[in-house]
Amino acid sequence: MKAGTGIAVIDLGGQYCHLIARRLRDLGVEPTIYDPGVAPKQLRGCAGVILSGGPQSVYAPQAPTVSPGLLRLGVPVLGICYGHQLLAQMLGGRVTKCDGEYGPAHLQVRVSDTLFRRTPRAQQVWMSHADAVTHLPKGAAAIASTARCENAAFADFRKGFFGVQFHPEVVHTEHGTDILRNFVRSVCKIRQRRAAPDRIPRLLEDIRRTVGDRSVFFLVSGGVDSTVAFVLCARALPKERILGLYVDTGFMRARETEELRANLAELGLADRLMVRDASALFFEKLRGVTEPEQKRHIIGRLFVQIQTAAMHEYGIDPQHWLLGQGTIYPDTIESGGNAAGTSGGRAALIKTHHNRCAEIRELIRQGRVIEPLSEFYKDEVRQLGEGLGLAHRLTHRWPFPGPGLAIRCICSTTAGKAARLSHASAQTVRAAGFSGVLLPVQSVGVQGDARTYRKVVALRHEQRRWNYPRMQELSTALCNVHAETNRVIVLLAGGRGPGSELRLDAARIRRATLEHERVDILRRADFLVRMGMERSGLTDDVWQFPVVLAPISFSGGDTVVLRPVNSEDGMTANFARLPLRFLKRVARQITGIPGVDAVFLDITNKPPATIEWE
Ligand code: XMP
Repeated sequence: MKAGTGIAVIDLGGQYCHLIARRLRDLGVEPTIYDPGVAPKQLRGCAGVILSGGPQSVYAPQAPTVSPGLLRLGVPVLGICYGHQLLAQMLGGRVTKCDGEYGPAHLQVRVSDTLFRRTPRAQQVWMSHADAVTHLPKGAAAIASTARCENAAFADFRKGFFGVQFHPEVVHTEHGTDILRNFVRSVCKIRQRRAAPDRIPRLLEDIRRTVGDRSVFFLVSGGVDSTVAFVLCARALPKERILGLYVDTGFMRARETEELRANLAELGLADRLMVRDASALFFEKLRGVTEPEQKRHIIGRLFVQIQTAAMHEYGIDPQHWLLGQGTIYPDTIESGGNAAGTSGGRAALIKTHHNRCAEIRELIRQGRVIEPLSEFYKDEVRQLGEGLGLAHRLTHRWPFPGPGLAIRCICSTTAGKAARLSHASAQTVRAAGFSGVLLPVQSVGVQGDARTYRKVVALRHEQRRWNYPRMQELSTALCNVHAETNRVIVLLAGGRGPGSELRLDAARIRRATLEHERVDILRRADFLVRMGMERSGLTDDVWQFPVVLAPISFSGGDTVVLRPVNSEDGMTANFARLPLRFLKRVARQITGIPGVDAVFLDITNKPPATIEWE
């Protein structure tokens, strides 16, 4: 790091540590990510230090910490989330467990200069914490608060120490980039701006260097990431040295294979594509499997097995071929990787992405994998795709996860009834004009940078007006206060025949696995949603639109949940606010599919819920 121009980012295991570095790079500043154990003398040349978030509590026995020498370097320090709590604690303040705060929060700024310079007094920030700084260190003052967090930001102006409980690095914090810019420019006084290098020539060069005289056998899915990565390799290497393999897992969306063929033909790469129908194998290996992580591991392993078998069959020598994947950075971090991009770091496992199963990690260890996009986020991949001349239709496809419909078809080994909400939750729900129950079906969330697996709250609207801001407040309140849930859904359609009303307390969880019939129902519902969105001109209004089948039964069938979200990079997201008329129309069409009892809308942000249910 050159003297006084760079920022040291200390990775304390947070989901967004790498994102902090990305934002700094976008601001023209050079970040370097370090382990918490870094010796202060290694950071002597830096202009400032940022302590990242992390999944631990500062008072947990294994909690990561940094050398006190870091605070004596004489450069400004900014702590974010866990880093904010650690900084406060190291300076003599106190951190205590509190009610959680996940997703949006209204920040009231008290001191508008330095960090909050040229930002509004009231602003939306994105939170993800269950601990809070309850006593500030001597010499520090609160410079912003939220209703639930008195010391949401503090500063010791004399020493140049700052802490923010929220995450300025995520796009859902409205003025996050301004806050980071203020830290970098006004506090750390970094004036120099590095021009962003033209990425494509550098990536092509990296691919040629990594591949050497070998070739690349690519796993393609038709999605943005693998297509952009495949095209990059095709541009970097002679065409005969790349081959793509598309595996039809049986858990793909309707017409997926045809679309992929057409897209690759448009790119002049159709003759480099092999297609395998492995649906029978996937169904066989997943029969009776209900646990989400187990599903994900099996799917990841099967991809590797099929790829190995295909290479063998085509006489491809694994010594001379690398496995190519379109892995992007969020895949690594959510799978428990670290900010340096390698798996097995301090970050918590949220969910094992299909391209980060144990078998792939072993191949990476052996240097047999190439992933040109592993440092990038989805929005950057889209920009790269545009730079490569790919059609907008392709670069802006909704993301679709590698494990496909298998992780959108929720299973259950047990049967059970809907339970009553706690007294406090029921009151909050009623006051907002809803009624609700707690369903014994679980889904994955990310809260305080850690994985949660909690029950779903189902609501029914009892008033005429559909009010999205109120729904957001309600879902946020239910997830923040009541540890029993991380996800809230609201009824859109259900009940058979005219005038028949669906009663939430009649909900039953039924035993269900990954059967063909259920996946077919889900595929049909997903198709209706995609067609409906396209016909209504709404496709570009959402970032992604998972459709989920849950074993919530009202008259012997299943329930479909619509999960439209908006995001930029998939790291944080808010539920999309689509027109109610459209939602009702598509929900009615879906209830026409035999086996569907009801349709709900997911009204939870990320955090606390993840985008996908599993
Ligand atoms: P979550 O559900 O964690 O997802 O909020 C964030 C984004 O990642 C996608 N996703 C995956 N993509 N392989 C993938 O290629 C996977 O195993 C996987 N799991 C989740 C998800 O669809 C969303 O866009």
